[in-house]
Amino acid sequence: MVRTSSPGKVILFGEHAVVYGEPAIALAVTRRFKMNVRPRDGGKGHLVDGHRMTAAHHSYFKYAVENYWDGGPLDIATDSEIPSSSGMGSSAALTTSLMGAFVELSGGTIDDERERIARQSFATEYGVQGRASPTDTSTATMGMGVLLAKGPMDGLLWHVERGGAEWYIHRVDVPQLNIVVGFTGIKGNTGELVAKVRRFWESNNFAKETVADIGKLTMEGVEALNAGNVERLGELMDRNHQMLSILGVNHPKLQRLVEAARPHSYGAKMTGAGGGGSMIAITDEPERVAKAIQDAGGRPFIAEIGAPGLRRDGD
Ligand code: MEV
Repeated sequence: MVRTSSPGKVILFGEHAVVYGEPAIALAVTRRFKMNVRPRDGGKGHLVDGHRMTAAHHSYFKYAVENYWDGGPLDIATDSEIPSSSGMGSSAALTTSLMGAFVELSGGTIDDERERIARQSFATEYGVQGRASPTDTSTATMGMGVLLAKGPMDGLLWHVERGGAEWYIHRVDVPQLNIVVGFTGIKGNTGELVAKVRRFWESNNFAKETVADIGKLTMEGVEALNAGNVERLGELMDRNHQMLSILGVNHPKLQRLVEAARPHSYGAKMTGAGGGGSMIAITDEPERVAKAIQDAGGRPFIAEIGAPGLRRDGD
């Protein structure tokens, strides 16, 4: 049996625009998706948490098994600290944990195969969702902080190209920030939200400009992070949130949580695909912001950032 786990993530800047090759910054959080994977003795077909694996209920598992596993039937047991469809990267953490288990069950080691795992996990998200960027899967694989940029910079890990877009993936230092996450409790469907933005982007020049503006703002965010300028960072987060609203991925409850957090924060924005899901705020008063989010009907938690990436856990 192999036990693996991967971290969830928050996107500080650049979600949605990154699907078109614009930059994005994501940070791994300490909440993890864990799984035990073992070959099934004598059984036929794969099991997930005791149920037969089906495309309808286990789309990521099924895609990954069909494309990247050439052994016999598997028995997979999951244990996730990341709510599904919450904007915190649970599907990417699931996928990378499974790919890591495949490598370890085949006699390899995660550390030797990290790049291949990240590439195959991205291909899985892309295949299941119809389109994606490598943001979530890179962050789940590498942990800590990840920057996707339009060209190579310090800390370059690898380069990925897909569907007419390309990304240079970098490791970045984890900033000293207090981040509070607020989950709306409403599940956002990433594939549908990405497709919705795509239709807008294809038919409308203003949407294309907004996507490009998010890219520019993200690189200003990188400068603010490097300079440790938290006021500027917050200002940019507020603007990024507004641009995402223009792209049509905000939700009334998400907006309520963002507004509840702002009076005690440097900045607040939705994080991940939106349409429900979660928001983040950066603040010097995390307890106060968590309470404001709770009072506004959200489920807050104070995120610990800079978590390690995919790993094999003790058997
Ligand atoms: C989802 O966490 C982030 C999106 O940009 C989709 C993606 O990058 O694949 C909305």
